[in-house]
Amino acid sequence: MSDPHADAQLSKLEVLDRKNAEALLGGGQIRIDAQHKKGKLTARERVDLLMDEGSFEEIGKFVMHRSKDFGLDKEYYLGDGVVTGYGTVNGRLVYVFSQDFTVFGGSLSETHAEKIVKIMDLAMKNGAPVIGLNDSGGARIQEGVVSLGGYADIFYKNTLASGVIPQLSAIMGPCAGGAVYSPAITDFILMVENTSYMFVTGPNVVKTVTHENVTSEELGGASTHSAKSGVTHFSCANEVACITHLKQLLSYMPQNCEENAPHLPYEPQGDESRPALNTIIPENPNQPYDIREVIEGIIDADSFLEVHQNFAENIVVGFARLGGRSIGIVGNQPAVLAGVLDINASTKAARFVRFCDSFNIPLLVLEDVPGFLPGTDQEWRGIITNGAKLLYAFCEATVPRITVITRKAYGGAYDVMNSKHIGADMNYAWPTAEIAVMGAKGAAEIIFKREIATADDPEAKLAEKVDEYQQKFATPYRAAHRGFVDEVILPAQTRQKLIRAFKMLENKVDVLPRKKHGNIPL
Ligand code: HXC
Repeated sequence: MSDPHADAQLSKLEVLDRKNAEALLGGGQIRIDAQHKKGKLTARERVDLLMDEGSFEEIGKFVMHRSKDFGLDKEYYLGDGVVTGYGTVNGRLVYVFSQDFTVFGGSLSETHAEKIVKIMDLAMKNGAPVIGLNDSGGARIQEGVVSLGGYADIFYKNTLASGVIPQLSAIMGPCAGGAVYSPAITDFILMVENTSYMFVTGPNVVKTVTHENVTSEELGGASTHSAKSGVTHFSCANEVACITHLKQLLSYMPQNCEENAPHLPYEPQGDESRPALNTIIPENPNQPYDIREVIEGIIDADSFLEVHQNFAENIVVGFARLGGRSIGIVGNQPAVLAGVLDINASTKAARFVRFCDSFNIPLLVLEDVPGFLPGTDQEWRGIITNGAKLLYAFCEATVPRITVITRKAYGGAYDVMNSKHIGADMNYAWPTAEIAVMGAKGAAEIIFKREIATADDPEAKLAEKVDEYQQKFATPYRAAHRGFVDEVILPAQTRQKLIRAFKMLENKVDVLPRKKHGNIPL
């Protein structure tokens, strides 16, 4: 901090100018240059990129820490390592905090935490999203427990704000130790490749405890967390891409849980028929196809933002627009593991469904699922509890919910994937749908076991029985006769049907039984 005696020579207005200039420099030009050298932007440059030009209003620019230990009585920086305030993104109010690595490595002091809590309180009272741009060495080591308390204050606010306002976290540098738990509680995490990492304990501790040699990038870089752990929802090539993603993500969301997401203008184009969808399902029911092609064939052009793209790829989730309306899509992916539901796919989709439900974003489910993944690995790691998360998430969702069964809807997975029985509003099936307890071969082998075993030609008998089962059950019509499927539609009509159905459901009101909160199987 500059010499207070020098200020005595300045007019009051000049003192303000000088303080403003000092705050803008954070930890000083040398540290700013070092930040740039690492390929990173400064906290303020990030805020400028995020916010609409000229819209950012800073809060707490002159806040300073109160510590006296370990030389901190002589080292102060205005703002104390975090830039906080509000402004607009694409014309909509958001609150932001951006940690400044040039000041004590962006570490979190008592006052740094207070600044973050202050804007979170404002965001809650005024019903607008909070975006955190994280770049921090963790707890301010010189402050001890006071800093830990600051973290806990933030975690508490994150939890209270969960489901009230959207909370987005971009990780743009280190995020280690208990600090990871604030982003983890927020709705979405975005990480920048090669310059950001998240872990509870770093490579040195890992080496001491488990004797593993691992780099920061391997342990907790963007690619690790986007593909292996699923901690991050987006892995971004660089900081500019990360901020672009943040803005796009926000565009699908309402400001808070009391509002609906922005609805873009939509001009109907003829009958909205998409003939290419009629031939998308292969003749052979065991042949894969890419569910993303179905998604693209249904939604408004170029409107799909995939979430968790590299994690549990056997299920695809993301936001899109349909007739200008923001929707969340959950689709089994036959191109990966035949679209089977496993632990990761279940938790990935469950979290997405709960986000959409919290923020009034209608859900579209595209179903082609052969069942849950068998095996000791899945059973011992708890596919029962984890599969139940997805079931629970759909059951409790009160937003408009529509399912389209494109092909397989087998076994328990039929029930779980937003079936009529668990509260879906409209269920469509394509003529290629197969809605049954299991695949025809497995079914025939069980129910005609004795008949097949005693036949003169067991192979031929099996083939005959498979065919019989296939004809009877591997169709959408049994379910349609019961009303479990509302309509069997031509694939080409899907877009038109969905636009109308979501419009029909736009004023849906559904209330859950009164309770403190449910107890989702965790
Ligand atoms: C105070 C810190 C700091 C911290 C970094 N700095 N981390 N100051 N508290 N936690 C300061 C450095 O002293 C240095 O100051 C400047 O920030 C930049 O740090 P460098 O080490 O030079 O940068 P770099 O080489 O890029 O390394 C970054 C780093 C490293 C990997 C983050 O600084 C580091 O390991 N820091 C400590 C991380 C840590 O153990 N934090 C506590 C985690 S426990 P100068 O003056 O030289 O610029 C935790 C608990 C939270 O956070 C619990 C919540 C429940």
